Amino acid sequence: MSVEPPVSIQPGTPSLTEFPAWKALSSHFKAIRDKHLREFFADDARRGERFTAEAAGLYLDYSKNRITAETLRLLVQLAEECGLQKRIAAMFEGKPINSTERRAVLHTALRAPRDAQIMADGINVVPEVHAVLDRMTTFANELCSGGWRGHTGKRIRNIVNIGIGGSDLGPVMAYEALRAYSQRDMVFRFVSNVDGTDFREATRDISPEETLFIVCSKTFTTTETLANAHAARQWMLDAFDDARAVSKHFVAVSTNTVEVSDFGIDPANMFGFWDWVGGRYSMDSAIGLSTMIAIGPQNFRSMLAGFHAMDEHFRTTPFDRNLPVIMGLLAIWYNNFFGSETLAVLPYDQYLKRFPAYLQQLAMESNGKQARLDGFPVNYQTSQIVWGEPGTNGQHSFYQLIHQGTRLIPCDFIGFCQTLNPLGNHHDLLMANLFAQTEALAFGKTSEEVKSEGTPDWLCPHRTFPGNRPTNTILAERLTPYTLGTLVALYEHAVFTQGAIWNIDSFDQWGVELGKELAKRIVKEMAPMGDPNLKHDSSTNALIRRYVGCRDGGGITG
Ligand code: F6P
Repeated sequence: MSVEPPVSIQPGTPSLTEFPAWKALSSHFKAIRDKHLREFFADDARRGERFTAEAAGLYLDYSKNRITAETLRLLVQLAEECGLQKRIAAMFEGKPINSTERRAVLHTALRAPRDAQIMADGINVVPEVHAVLDRMTTFANELCSGGWRGHTGKRIRNIVNIGIGGSDLGPVMAYEALRAYSQRDMVFRFVSNVDGTDFREATRDISPEETLFIVCSKTFTTTETLANAHAARQWMLDAFDDARAVSKHFVAVSTNTVEVSDFGIDPANMFGFWDWVGGRYSMDSAIGLSTMIAIGPQNFRSMLAGFHAMDEHFRTTPFDRNLPVIMGLLAIWYNNFFGSETLAVLPYDQYLKRFPAYLQQLAMESNGKQARLDGFPVNYQTSQIVWGEPGTNGQHSFYQLIHQGTRLIPCDFIGFCQTLNPLGNHHDLLMANLFAQTEALAFGKTSEEVKSEGTPDWLCPHRTFPGNRPTNTILAERLTPYTLGTLVALYEHAVFTQGAIWNIDSFDQWGVELGKELAKRIVKEMAPMGDPNLKHDSSTNALIRRYVGCRDGGGITG
């Protein structure tokens, strides 16, 4: 890589905190920080309709946030002063906005229609994207119709996706989210962890004759994925004792043809993608092959159409009506002005149980940065910590802290008006809980209200709910492949908006490297008998020695 910084980097640009809108927001914050959502709603009878926005089938109610029209105006001004519009254009036009890796960021091209034109390095990438989608379609159809069979002629019934990070979280989240649309006569498993338990449990009850491994790795050098892929090959060879079996039971998804063929997978059985697709933005590239097999090519394309609809909304809609921009700016408001540390994402849909985990990588690997684009340190907080669980389960676990704890935790509630699994009045109960939670969080219950119910004075403080806890509510008609596409793209672009404001590179991930390097060194030091000359700190040295001793039969107490 060249030692010169990219020309787009202007060293020493003024800090975000010097911008007029930031300063105005700081004073505005002081004026409204103590105002209660009860007062906001009392001031404006139509607030619940006014602070809403709609796009691509998603309805966003952000009225239960601690904002006024002035807050929104200033946040939008901040986005303008930070050049958000230019950054959006640069992303969609394939400019190398991942500046530390000098790469374009074009996941939006993965869902562009066939006749679109999107240039990266002077080449229209859309035909290549559709060529891969077409190959995936042919393969998925062949597999599901029984045209593609295993080494012994049996149909493939089990798909095991091997990958980690973006090569796992997107596929597993999408599979779980769209299970209702999936081939119920097939088994889908996802192996990511280098803990052997993951591989063993995923394969213990399936037959090698009927199993296809999809090895997903953008780089095809990731330790965990290669360790699991080697274990899978051995598992296959143990069953067949014939290396030719590999060609019928393994396909790869990668950008690295050389490593794929070195591993022993014929490049004819490889589905490619490009360095302009970040791992955490790759679920609608060939990394989504397991998704396509599960839900079928038509549903997969419908998911892409959902992504594209949200892309177009993000690219073309004025900021004050733009869902991802509004959500991104609200995150800035709580993170940087209220000092909130986390965002809870609470889907009221069991199918979205892996959605918070997916968003963790998306948000935190993208925006967990401390250096600005010009290399100067930021003097403000960047990514919030994202976490969550489906409702109503979370209500019986951690909501206590959100309601009455000492921290301010903004929450995103996600719900659907129609269930995919009608059962008695379950769905009304589920949605009643969603609405009840956002109401309780916003308005709380005063000590007067508690007292008026006959509660003794000593108990009142415990039964009082302060309220004023901000929430967004995202409502959609029904969880479909299309809706999932719109939801994921909504968060992708909200994360982009935040990164643009914080003036960081949302598309690199240097922070994962040091641990990887050290692990490579340490694993060599763990050879039988260990390494007597460990040169780490005294804690790490002692831990390695104790591990090796215990592993080799010495007992944990040394
Ligand atoms: O270690 C982090 C990371 O590089 C992620 O960004 C990525 O999604 C994951 O590892 C897997 O990488 P690959 O697809 O190259 O195996």
